[in-house]
Amino acid sequence: MITLRPLIYSDAPAIRRIYSGAAVRFLGRPAMTDKEAEEYVVRVQEWAAAEPVEQYILGVDVAGELIGVVKLGRRPNGHGRLGYVLREDCWGRGYATSAVQELVVFAFTSFGLESLGGKHHAENPASGRVLTKAGFTRLGIRDGMIAYHLADRP
Ligand SMILES: CC(C)(COP(=O)(O)OP(=O)(O)OC[C@H]1O[C@@H](n2cnc3c(N)ncnc32)[C@H](O)[C@@H]1OP(=O)(O)O)[C@@H](O)C(=O)NCCC(=O)NCCS
Repeated sequence: MITLRPLIYSDAPAIRRIYSGAAVRFLGRPAMTDKEAEEYVVRVQEWAAAEPVEQYILGVDVAGELIGVVKLGRRPNGHGRLGYVLREDCWGRGYATSAVQELVVFAFTSFGLESLGGKHHAENPASGRVLTKAGFTRLGIRDGMIAYHLADRP
């Protein structure tokens, strides 16, 4: 059972663990340093305090342990983009699917979005499977990235 929750400053060590190893391979970035993780949680809290909020980053919590993050960004015309990353040793247990399903409900209700998009590297089929299980439709491939769309809450 997962819970989505706001990040707090003391989450920085868990964030650094999430953004490491195989988890960063398809994110186009190196592993996070301690300092970057601390800056990240500060930045996320600033975004959460903005009026209006344009970007949400929420922690994926399992039994009190932070094992991932999901992201939701507002684009023009009621469209939103989502992203997600889980700590490598927690893969394959359905956590990302549950987190994205919960984020989708939040996006269409509390965040007031009308459609959602997501994309993943063509060599990262597990990510596409997460989007498909959450109700997204595959649009096509461009520049090695596969795009997905969700027009309404499933
Ligand atoms: C992608 C990611 C979030 C998946 O997390 P997860 O918790 O393992 O996902 P889930 O367990 O909910 O679902 C994974 C699905 O992919 C499937 N899968 C795993 N490896 C696969 C592969 N090589 N090919 C096809 N499907 C695969 C699993 O079988 C599962 O599907 P199923 O439930 O039908 O069996 C995780 O691997 C991750 O954080 N990766 C690094 C960051 C990343 O790639 N983020 C997405 C960027 S767009």
